[in-house]
Amino acid sequence: MALPLRVGIVGCGNISGIYFQNLGRYRSTQVVACADLDLGRAQDAAAKHGLPKALTTEQLLADPEVDLVLNLTIPNAHASVAMAAIEAGKHVYNEKPLTISFRDGKTLIESASAKSLRVGCAPDTFMGAGIQTCRKLIDEGMIGEPIACEAHMQCHGHESWHPSPEFYYQKGGGPMLDMGPYYLTALVNLMGGIRRVAGFARATFPTRTITSQPKHGKVIDVETPTHIAGSMEFASGAIGMVVQSFDVWHGNVPPLIIHGTEGSLLVGDPNAFGDTVQVRLKGDSDWRTIDLVHNFAENSRGVGVLDMAHGIEEGRPHRANGDLALHVLEAMHAFGESSESGAYRVLETSVVRPAAMAKSEFSEDLS
Ligand SMILES: NC(=O)c1ccc[n+]([C@@H]2O[C@H](COP(=O)([O-])OP(=O)(O)OC[C@H]3O[C@@H](n4cnc5c(N)ncnc54)[C@H](O)[C@@H]3O)[C@@H](O)[C@H]2O)c1
Repeated sequence: MALPLRVGIVGCGNISGIYFQNLGRYRSTQVVACADLDLGRAQDAAAKHGLPKALTTEQLLADPEVDLVLNLTIPNAHASVAMAAIEAGKHVYNEKPLTISFRDGKTLIESASAKSLRVGCAPDTFMGAGIQTCRKLIDEGMIGEPIACEAHMQCHGHESWHPSPEFYYQKGGGPMLDMGPYYLTALVNLMGGIRRVAGFARATFPTRTITSQPKHGKVIDVETPTHIAGSMEFASGAIGMVVQSFDVWHGNVPPLIIHGTEGSLLVGDPNAFGDTVQVRLKGDSDWRTIDLVHNFAENSRGVGVLDMAHGIEEGRPHRANGDLALHVLEAMHAFGESSESGAYRVLETSVVRPAAMAKSEFSEDLS
């Protein structure tokens, strides 16, 4: 396949703008069409970003000029849109989570593989300068052997700012499926795959009232756990703790920290591409900040698609891949399943860590 990879975007909502911007800027990707259930949204996006085509989803999937479908729909449409893309013979890259159910995710990966098509999935924040700097420090042995980690996302939900926040409280929403992908994908990239998990989950508030516009005052029924706490054992033997919550008014713990035999590493916010990285080794009297020298320190959503374009062209695996996303999806569900059953959940999937990024990776795409 010749570059640029021709991308068709399905779902022109809140998050789509940054993808239009970045994929329009990289040399090896080109957005050629967009679609939405609401055709007016697709037309607005096409006009704003100078695209020749605003289409229905069916038209976009049938368009021979589209190589890859970038699926930015809401989570409960991820599986159906992605499966339709594979059936139409297109590569697909989903926003997170891969799908809502593990079974749908597995079917998607198997169907794509049977047709020699690729599945990619957000988040790609782990390819940013912050987490890649941490990856380099860990791989070089700076903190010794990683033995433990803690991952915390604590907030009071998204109904105060998102224009259509209902999906966050429906089945398939909740903090684990919404924000867990950033934390667990970062951890798997840094520490390797997860072997088994245990968890507790609850929904503290039965309803949520939207305070953003245009749905101010609308009451949403909560259908999913909104506070999940768990522990996990990595295949390496390291032990992790995770809290993902929409029930907390004021959290006060670092988002992601990794402890090694020689010291500890503050990874920063895994929902960002270039947050501050700090290290404190066993003899140090204080934390010290590490310079970020890799590319992609700014909001680079879409770098996973760029990597997929190069991966397809070079015949190498892409980093934000379906196997990684499926492993993270299984782990996220396993916390809730463990909470219900009262038993550990041993994961059936395993993964290989994606290749580390070179400091100047894809520099030619940025010039
Ligand atoms: N908003 C954020 O800050 C953010 C950040 C990172 C990731 N995400 C993820 O991005 C995805 C989209 O989130 P969003 O905030 O942009 O949501 P949104 O509701 O603003 O936009 C979703 C768009 O998809 C369209 N859509 C829904 N079902 C469709 C279908 N079957 N076919 C075609 N179009 C369909 C909707 O009409 C809407 O325009 C979600 O998976 C979310 O988890 C969002």
